[in-house]
Amino acid sequence: MILSGGEGTRLRPITHTSAKQLVPVANKPILFYGLEALRDAGIRDIGIIVGDTEAEIKAAVGDGSAWGVEVTYIRQEAPLGLAHAVLTAEPFLSRCPFVMYLGDNLIREGISSFVEEFRCKDVEALILLAHVEEPQRFGVAELEGNRIVRLVEKPKEPPSDLALVGAYMFRPSILEASRSIKPSWRNELEITDAIQRLIDEGKRVEAHVINGWWKDTGRLEDLLEANRMILEGIVPGCEGSVDRESRIDGRVIIEEGAEIVRSVLRGPAVVGRGSRVIDSFVGPFTSIYYDVTLERSEIEHSIVLENSHISDIPGRIEDSLIGKNVEISRSRSRPSTFRFVLGDNSRVGLV
Ligand code: TTP
Repeated sequence: MILSGGEGTRLRPITHTSAKQLVPVANKPILFYGLEALRDAGIRDIGIIVGDTEAEIKAAVGDGSAWGVEVTYIRQEAPLGLAHAVLTAEPFLSRCPFVMYLGDNLIREGISSFVEEFRCKDVEALILLAHVEEPQRFGVAELEGNRIVRLVEKPKEPPSDLALVGAYMFRPSILEASRSIKPSWRNELEITDAIQRLIDEGKRVEAHVINGWWKDTGRLEDLLEANRMILEGIVPGCEGSVDRESRIDGRVIIEEGAEIVRSVLRGPAVVGRGSRVIDSFVGPFTSIYYDVTLERSEIEHSIVLENSHISDIPGRIEDSLIGKNVEISRSRSRPSTFRFVLGDNSRVGLV
């Protein structure tokens, strides 16, 4: 099962109107990376937990046939925690072992070896862990050999630098464990509490530590970093048009129908289908999605969603996430003032 509900408070205002799992990273929705990881691990039946953004997720993923998998949508009445999502999916899970994958997470190496290990082992749960620099920010595992003996949420004094990554393998016993726990201080049924319950009952819970990078894209900084990491690995290509006065440096993807006119593009970067870059600069680590117009402006280390228009911006735009149908332009009329129409929880940084 893939968890694609949640509130996404940390990515407001984008999440007021859209699912964070559908924000494109290197021009591919984050959720699609998860679907591919499960498919590549040989999983064909995928249940997607959805909340208020159900319609949008369904429109993007459909019946799963684009990935060669069968998708079932499972509506969670409210984002009451990861263990609550497990309980909501009980009829779908039908007492089979399963993977739980967080739909806003990116795991570069995929999960195939993790799933393979679980298939061969007689353990009640296998938890994916990664070494992190600031364990205080994560759920952290204490290990004895491969065995997990304790899980602590955001510990002040972390017992290790091994954080829980957004993928778990369970057997049906996690359902009973989830039923037996109480909501936490944030009123969620926490999966860490349910796993701790398994451990306390003497069940075997083991760790699988990944070597490559992993990102939880729930915050803007992490989303931009994930975008940077994926762009680092792109293969350049041009299916659009580039005029003679433009220059392309480094690895850049120009998708079908995109037009580059009198501009400089410095990769790694991607310009999406139908977008137009005119008299502009697109710098490293920028992903421009579909039907965007960028005129007489400069942008780098940013993500721009579909159908937005940016023109005549005097400074370089950096470290930004720009939503759908956004207009950023310069007003020439008097009085010379800033004029904004900003949604709730928007953030603007002016120089
Ligand atoms: P989180 O990022 O932990 O929670 P959130 O999406 O509510 O975000 P925020 O903390 O910014 O408010 O969730 C991890 C993933 O699990 C994400 O893809 C959303 C999903 N999820 C559910 O599907 N149901 C839930 O009850 C919760 C809490 C999360």
